[in-house]
Amino acid sequence: MFHLYGLFDAKLRAFDTFAYIYETKNTKTTDMKRAILTAIMALALYPFASAQMKVEVKIDTAPENGQVIPKEIYGQFAEHLGSCIYGGLWVGPESEIPNVNGYRKDVLDALIELKVPVMRWPGGCFADEYHWRDGIGPRENRPRMVNNNWGGTVEDNSFGTHEFLNLCELLGCEPYISGNVGSGTVEELAKWVEYMTAADGPMARLRAENGRVEPWKVKYLGVGNESWGCGGNMLPEYYSHLYRRYQTYCRDYSGNQLYKVASGATDYDYNWTEVLMKNIGNNLMHGVSLHYYTVKGWEGSKGSATVFTDQEYYNTLAKAVGVEPVIIRHIGIMDQYDPEKKVDLLLDEWGTWFDVEPGTNPGHLFQQNTMRDAMVAALSLNIFHKYTERLKMANIAQIANVLQSMVLTQGDKMVLTPTYHTFRMYNVHQDATYLPTGCDSPKFVDELERECPVVDATASRNQEGTVHVTLTNTSLDETAEITVDLGTAGGKVTAAEVLTSGDVHDYNAFDKPEVVKPVEFKDFKVKGDKIIVKMPAMSIISLTVEI
Ligand code: AHR
Repeated sequence: MFHLYGLFDAKLRAFDTFAYIYETKNTKTTDMKRAILTAIMALALYPFASAQMKVEVKIDTAPENGQVIPKEIYGQFAEHLGSCIYGGLWVGPESEIPNVNGYRKDVLDALIELKVPVMRWPGGCFADEYHWRDGIGPRENRPRMVNNNWGGTVEDNSFGTHEFLNLCELLGCEPYISGNVGSGTVEELAKWVEYMTAADGPMARLRAENGRVEPWKVKYLGVGNESWGCGGNMLPEYYSHLYRRYQTYCRDYSGNQLYKVASGATDYDYNWTEVLMKNIGNNLMHGVSLHYYTVKGWEGSKGSATVFTDQEYYNTLAKAVGVEPVIIRHIGIMDQYDPEKKVDLLLDEWGTWFDVEPGTNPGHLFQQNTMRDAMVAALSLNIFHKYTERLKMANIAQIANVLQSMVLTQGDKMVLTPTYHTFRMYNVHQDATYLPTGCDSPKFVDELERECPVVDATASRNQEGTVHVTLTNTSLDETAEITVDLGTAGGKVTAAEVLTSGDVHDYNAFDKPEVVKPVEFKDFKVKGDKIIVKMPAMSIISLTVEI
């Protein structure tokens, strides 16, 4: 059983006790009597315990040295994996599915609305087996290859460098290229950078022959991906030396300035970060990456994306907020070696990871997306907002049809996921000043004794002075009365939205695409200098406030 502190304790103790009676049917009679008595007492307290939860959210609207939330915290990741690229983003110009130069129009429109700031490509694990020359020139001449990492699917390379960089231009986002270190060469990566960014020279001429005269601007360059695993099974000492060598030949051409990212640790591998910081230092890399997935465990079943118990719901959220101590500890190591904070931390893969949908290719990582995913997204983004002094980018995995996606597609159909809606509601925080927020929420403790706030909040102020407050109530059955204290005389709520649903298992299916979507929210009032919000259970609310 999971536990909530505070108000819900008695109520849950009643449930606990019944579970205890149930589990201990064969225990001695005295134990049984004691258990029944406790249950009766707990049930007597039940009406009081089920009173509405009250939480105060205090927002510092005038912080000293206010930290800007980099828009890149809302980054995306698109890998040649399952139908993320083919079918998800790209259908080709000949397709009957409405498209703009081969990019599917419905997805394009949805992503423009989302304000995608940066997109990482072509992997993931795929990146370390990708040879960029296979993906340039006339599409009909491009070689076919086997995608060894992801289901052995045949990759026809029809989506390559031009298709990716032109997509970024259409979306107005920064490209983040993941370079091949695992199975590539220094020369191959160096020439790729030249091909994309040089105004003149042999690579620029080749690019022009392929239809693009002007170089693209490419800022972010990942030097390998998961080099401790699918990117070459290296040890950190070896990788850090290889990184130093590879990055040397990745030049800044024609005014383009590369931001070089070393392939970082996964989860709790603090030694990887330490060795990289020690061996690479703070002059040869701009950022070091980190990957953290909300996954039950890597062995065996990861649980269904749509069929889960209440307990599993709380376990997932507790695992998601477990990213906070992980970020803190990696930052702590970076602080030791780089007190001037010249090297950034980039969480360039994160999100939920469940079993694939029944009947789909196990190598394609296609999973549905419920209100539980929306909660994971909200709680995670709230945490990222707090560490942006060092954490400068985060890329949710992945943008379409893979893991915790923004959109899911099937043929000509597309749905926006609850995670998409969360990202859309949160995009007001991009490049806004973070407003430190305190919240006296009770906490729940999951099966593994991990804690997670029941109610959580984040806030920012944009350049026009508008304040955005985003509130999350993770409780499956308790409404909450939230007092938002802006510490100022009054404030006018000019817009409010809520994302919730009748059932946490709800999702947007291709034949029912609008089950979960945000709607206008009205259940709040301004009382003096406070905003009182009546939050439904399992909801995310955004408030736009003029103060
Ligand atoms: O996002 C799916 C995979 O997860 C990526 O390819 C890899 O980098 C990570 O292990």
